[in-house]
Amino acid sequence: MRFSVPHPIPYQGSKRRLAKAILSHVPESSFTRLVEPFAGSAAVTLAAAAQGRFPSYLIGDALEPLMGLWNAILTAPEEIARQYGILWHSERAQPVDAFYKIRAQFNTDRAPAKLLYLLARCVKNSVRFNPAGEFNQSPDKRRKGTHPDTMREEILAAHHLLAGKCRAVHGDFLQLIRKARGGDLFYLDPPYQGTSDGRDQRYIAGLSRARIIEGLELLNEKSIPFILSYDGSCGKKSYGTPLPDHIGKRLLLDVGRSSQATLNGRRDVTVESLYVSHLLPVTDQRSVLSLNDFAEQAALFV
Ligand SMILES: C[S@@+](CC[C@H](N)C(=O)[O-])C[C@H]1O[C@@H](n2cnc3c(N)ncnc32)[C@H](O)[C@@H]1O
Repeated sequence: MRFSVPHPIPYQGSKRRLAKAILSHVPESSFTRLVEPFAGSAAVTLAAAAQGRFPSYLIGDALEPLMGLWNAILTAPEEIARQYGILWHSERAQPVDAFYKIRAQFNTDRAPAKLLYLLARCVKNSVRFNPAGEFNQSPDKRRKGTHPDTMREEILAAHHLLAGKCRAVHGDFLQLIRKARGGDLFYLDPPYQGTSDGRDQRYIAGLSRARIIEGLELLNEKSIPFILSYDGSCGKKSYGTPLPDHIGKRLLLDVGRSSQATLNGRRDVTVESLYVSHLLPVTDQRSVLSLNDFAEQAALFV
């Protein structure tokens, strides 16, 4: 019997480690659907399904081949695992060269299995696109990427958790918000401000703070509760401008030591802010922050 939550898509920025803490802010009640419009590897959806928290799930993302990959996991898991295995083994015969060949093919055909292979094999498992929309991340020369046997197990386990209960769609997050219905709870994890505004356009689509506020105001107007992960702080460095108070309550999650800080021998601890809709009760009052407390509190974690 499997006790760990499956996580088939290696994805930088995954909420795998935080999923349990995030879900602890979801009251046990009668929500009918969890909607995750910035799904990525859908770590929170997978953790919620492993806990049997919602009868149904809807995941979306602006990256089309990623949602193609999710659809393959939901409907044809053996086939996507088989295709991944072929790609992974082709690189054993032709180390690194095969990576660049598959990357070039992916930039033409956008095949979901190739995206899975590239994510598993590239530096920091991180999607990076150039201004022309081409995947341009380099291979990780020290690691081989998830072994196909392990990948198959992760894919099948995710399939068993979600098949028949989950729909995966490609598109902008606002489309899902516009279609929100009573009984939904939204979990949103948009790209960090630091990675969306300005020069660091790592994801296929950047996202302004104004559009996020527009989406959350729409959820509030429709009385749809949400939880949002948005920006954080590492050591004394804080990322991003907080959202206005009327949007929701701001809580602080202790994420632990950042891997970069560990490498540099520093004691910095990363904290991440979580905005919880005013429609949801706060389980731990001590974690509620006013905007001015934030920097001070973040420093206490160091
Ligand atoms: C921080 S990642 C989410 C990570 C996710 N929580 C996980 O556990 O893997 C943000 C995601 O938002 C997607 N994205 C960026 N802009 C978007 C938009 N306008 N609408 C929907 N998705 C978007 C990116 O492709 C990326 O997968």
